[in-house]
Amino acid sequence: MSDDDEKIGAAVTKIALHLATRHVFLCTGPNCCTPEVGQAAWEALKEIIRDAGLSAGPNTCQRTKVGCLRICTGGPTMLVYPEGTWYHGMTPERIPRFVQQHVVAGKTIEEWIFAEHRLEG
Ligand code: FES
Repeated sequence: MSDDDEKIGAAVTKIALHLATRHVFLCTGPNCCTPEVGQAAWEALKEIIRDAGLSAGPNTCQRTKVGCLRICTGGPTMLVYPEGTWYHGMTPERIPRFVQQHVVAGKTIEEWIFAEHRLEG
């Protein structure tokens, strides 16, 4: 096993990938929202996921900051798998409800959704 293989394996373990049940991608702009709003939403998402105990354990929620989800308006844009739920306007103020309702309770927030597309392979 190479040094890189060991480091990758350690990273996979650290993020509790085998326990993940959901993955949230959040665009932090600059076209769908300002970088300031996008970054503030990202910081809120990280904090609330961590505070909800979802950074590790049986319902781990992976989260990834991305530079563009190809919508480029009405952001911050968010994409959630496995459901394939696309949300618009995900400002920091919306993040607490998103985590509680969608991530914790598993109920999507209809009024913020602009597209749904589960990937079936
Ligand atoms: S810049 Fe956010 S979707 Fe393109």
